[in-house]
Amino acid sequence: MQKIDVILGLQWGDEGKGKIVDYLAQDYDIVARFQGGPNAGHTLKFGGNKYILHTVPSGIFRENLINLIGNGVVLDPLVFQRELQSLEQSSVNFQKRLLVSRKAHLIVPTHRWLDAASEAHKGKAKIGSTLKGIGPTYMDKTGRNGLRVGDLEASNFMEQYEALKNKHLELLQIYPEVDFDLKAEEKKWFDSIEALRALTFVDSEYYVNNALSEGKKILAEGAQGSMLDIDFGTYPFVTSSNTITAGVCTGLGVAPQLIGRVIGITKAYCTRVGSGPFPTEQENETGEKLREQGMEFGSTTGRARRCGWIDLPQLRYTILLNGVTDLCMTKIDVLNDFPELKAAVSYRYDGKESDQLPFDLCHTDVDPSYESYPGWNASLDEARTFDALPENAKNYLNRLEKILGVPFSMISTGPEREKLIIR
Ligand code: GDP
Ligand code: IMO
Ligand code: MG
Repeated sequence: MQKIDVILGLQWGDEGKGKIVDYLAQDYDIVARFQGGPNAGHTLKFGGNKYILHTVPSGIFRENLINLIGNGVVLDPLVFQRELQSLEQSSVNFQKRLLVSRKAHLIVPTHRWLDAASEAHKGKAKIGSTLKGIGPTYMDKTGRNGLRVGDLEASNFMEQYEALKNKHLELLQIYPEVDFDLKAEEKKWFDSIEALRALTFVDSEYYVNNALSEGKKILAEGAQGSMLDIDFGTYPFVTSSNTITAGVCTGLGVAPQLIGRVIGITKAYCTRVGSGPFPTEQENETGEKLREQGMEFGSTTGRARRCGWIDLPQLRYTILLNGVTDLCMTKIDVLNDFPELKAAVSYRYDGKESDQLPFDLCHTDVDPSYESYPGWNASLDEARTFDALPENAKNYLNRLEKILGVPFSMISTGPEREKLIIR
């Protein structure tokens, strides 16, 4: 039986998963999303164009490749329809290559309304959600009230929809009022369902396991990052799904022993968008320079991303949780003209030094201890091999991988498809 390979983010999202999945997809038969929803924004750049995907897997631009939206995903037909329209405009032929799990849950308009009302209710304590309805949809899933893609095939779908909507309208009464034009949103939503219905729905757990037994190669594409995982992230400032490797088992229906390579992606520094703890954040000129050089503005919401140094205790934690076999570093070029680089190597809290994360990063005063490295002050545009990198860049990577205990097998030196060093 073939094993399924996994690509996921080891930080707080936006590590460059889309770019790496798009590159690696050429070696696979199927790319499958296993969790998250339109809160994700995965950017691909090639042929002088830029594409941002939210729900559609990042293998869609590779001809002949099947792209699957797994049961663990939450899907908003409205966002999805817009994505499909922009694929059509780019002449991407997706109709026969984009499959949707019947067990994926649907985001309905009142889920987005609830998301906005819940955030308004939290005031200063808000999560900084993307307001795509993610939290309320997963709540209905675990609360056993949700609507699934397969329900669209049932004759009583409208009844099911009305029951869920009415429950939401009752719930909304406990929240502060927020602007939401339900009639208009519902109209757009029902129109968009037709684009979804035009695709093939599958029993994805059978589809995936059959494909593996036929020797097909599958790449599972993560969304968000491990520090946003509902169980292990900086709770409550997290998303509502399991973003770690374990999420592949539940989000696609594959057994743990069928997990193959796990490629963990980290930026050469660290970013976070939305609220919550971020120990190595640099609210100073360094942070501003990282944001500017890295063009750190959200792909989904356009918000400025918070920036800081790479955090090795944090990465060791997520390498452990995911069983990472290969590391990929992205955006190393963003550091090109920093004279000095830093990495957090341990934390000081509760009067002691530790290389473990505390139970609650939100309520622990953590003071990271840093190591410094000299920068390389050169462009990496011409470097196509590891050996061709400037000496100081190699030293930086070698030092980090020694501390992390896993090799960097890929190094991304720019947003474009071809700017990737395979080691
Ligand atoms: P994702 O959510 O993990 O797919 O990442 P995003 O697409 O949200 O954010 C990553 C951003 O960095 C995008 O704008 C990419 O085009 C860009 N990017 C990816 N890899 C590199 C790289 O190696 N260097 C630079 N400068 N930009 C990169
Ligand atoms: P990709 O796949 C970065 C963050 C939000 C917020 C928190 C909860 O592009 O890496 P949610 O909408 O899920 O309720 O928001 O999680 N968040 C992300 N941050 N990248 C993402 O996805 C994210 N998806 C959600 O900013 O802090
Ligand atoms: Mg993103």
